[in-house]
Amino acid sequence: MFKINNLTYQYEKNAIALNNINMDFSKGDVIGIIGSNGSGKSTLFMNLMGILQPSKGEIYFKDKEIKYTKKGLLNLRKNVGIVFQDPEKQIFYSKVYDDIAFALRNLGIDEATIKIRIEKALKAVNGIDFINKPVHFLSYGQKKRVAIASVIAMENEIVLLDEPTAGLDPVSTRLIVDIIKGLKNHNIKIVISSHDMNLIYEICDYVYVLNKGNLTACGSTEEVFVNEEELNSAGLELPWLVKLHKNIEIPLFKEEQDLYKYWKNEVLVTNKP
Ligand SMILES: Nc1ncnc2c1ncn2[C@@H]1O[C@H](COP(=O)(O)OP(=O)(O)O)[C@@H](O)[C@H]1O
Ligand SMILES: [Mg+2]
Repeated sequence: MFKINNLTYQYEKNAIALNNINMDFSKGDVIGIIGSNGSGKSTLFMNLMGILQPSKGEIYFKDKEIKYTKKGLLNLRKNVGIVFQDPEKQIFYSKVYDDIAFALRNLGIDEATIKIRIEKALKAVNGIDFINKPVHFLSYGQKKRVAIASVIAMENEIVLLDEPTAGLDPVSTRLIVDIIKGLKNHNIKIVISSHDMNLIYEICDYVYVLNKGNLTACGSTEEVFVNEEELNSAGLELPWLVKLHKNIEIPLFKEEQDLYKYWKNEVLVTNKP
């Protein structure tokens, strides 16, 4: 998987966007990269895809340093899929089917297999109805799901999601969370960036905190999210389940449903007359 050693990235003449970052994505199944706007999340993802090249430091994929040759990048992108923050950046064809087929055709996969993969991927994002639609008829959230379907159809081992729920309404956000949980159940490694702390808390098991290009904390989700000061100084907030744990002294729950179960079984039962 990815290992990042002393990565520094500076946009020409601008301030440093990533400052001496070290990461190891073998530490979790779903890795969270959290940080407020401008903290360097998208810059990191573009370095991981080889779209940007480190100013200093190295990025290893499967124990080999990324090679910035045509062949090296093709090999990297066969294994790693990315869903950009802005779905418009990802969509090239007017029809959903052709858009998803594009990258598969590039790999020389036969049309019958492509059809099967596209249908499967669209079903996984609850979007099979979009299959023959023109992309520009879709809403922002639907485009986002098509972008995720494109990555699913590639059957990559690792998927990078850059702020997958930014700008989405609650129902679309829930859908994306379910899609991510589905990917996880298929043993696909996921790296997700966000400043939505509730989302990251629910789905990630290992978290890195970026603050103005510096890596200021990392650890298991439970470790990182109890450190309120650290999060606040990075411009972030505690997830609501952690706030409840801290302020009304209930156990730390990972999901909303766990809290309700506890409430029904422990609190209501004990307090019954
Ligand atoms: N193309 C660019 N040219 C110059 N500076 C950039 C460019 N893209 C991003 N930056 C700067 O790099 C820093 C990190 O940005 P970015 O990686 O987009 O953060 P995030 O994704 O966490 O919001 C910010 O200070 C931003 O202004
Ligand atoms: Mg970004």
